[in-house]
Amino acid sequence: MSVNKEIKKITTNTIQKMKANGEKISMLTAYDFSFARLFDMAGIDVLLVGDSASNVMAGHETTLPITLDQIIYHASSVIRGVSRSLVVVDLPFGSYQSNSREALASAIRIMKETGAHAVKLEGGEEVLESAKRILAAGVPVMGHLGLTPQSIYKFGTYTVRAKEEAEAEKLKNDARLLQEAGCFALVLEKIPAMLAKEVSESLDIPTIGIGAGKYCDGQVLVMHDMLGINTAFKPRFLRQYLNLERQITEAVQHYVSDVKANDFPNEQEQY
Ligand code: KIV
Repeated sequence: MSVNKEIKKITTNTIQKMKANGEKISMLTAYDFSFARLFDMAGIDVLLVGDSASNVMAGHETTLPITLDQIIYHASSVIRGVSRSLVVVDLPFGSYQSNSREALASAIRIMKETGAHAVKLEGGEEVLESAKRILAAGVPVMGHLGLTPQSIYKFGTYTVRAKEEAEAEKLKNDARLLQEAGCFALVLEKIPAMLAKEVSESLDIPTIGIGAGKYCDGQVLVMHDMLGINTAFKPRFLRQYLNLERQITEAVQHYVSDVKANDFPNEQEQY
């Protein structure tokens, strides 16, 4: 299915209608103006300013170090590149877990200082009060269940979550609670496809999967992974659409050799 150019601006309502109409939702991460502009022009429905910026932009091992100020910098850059996509911003680790007042204050900073359209937070019942307080202030909230990378030190690994009955039951209950609280969509990360199917079919709000199979209402990937900027990361769920690592390396090697050989700049490339 091609991009629906009739839709001038994607809103939280638009993606809920997409689910109702059986149209899949496309989402990618973005962290800066230039890529956000390209992705928006290419017709992506939702851009996520993910706390994965901590990994792919800053080179940290986990998503934990990124700060509220840093995500605000990334999000305000992304917003300047976007005219059609819905922009969702991650609440960073430590900016919403202490209490719901802190959560609301962080969400308000993101909305005021970036111009973004919604926030995302990780967790179910544990963060429900925070989600409700943010929603009560009129800020759309996207939930995130399954593998929640901000809890990596509790999980210990990045393997598939909710394979056991008890964790699957908790996830289903959390999904229902987040929907009842008023969340407009849910990310489901690295859970069995059949569980994601059950959750997606049981909810009215859309589910966006990453490593959660084909039955989710939409899909999200980290831009660096799908563009092949770091080809060492090869989880089973990832489809790599480009090998930018190779192409950029070759282009830079070509430039280095042109400079060394005094071939660049040539007569036409100078004033
Ligand atoms: O931060 C991020 O990139 C995310 C996606 C993996 C959903 O939360």
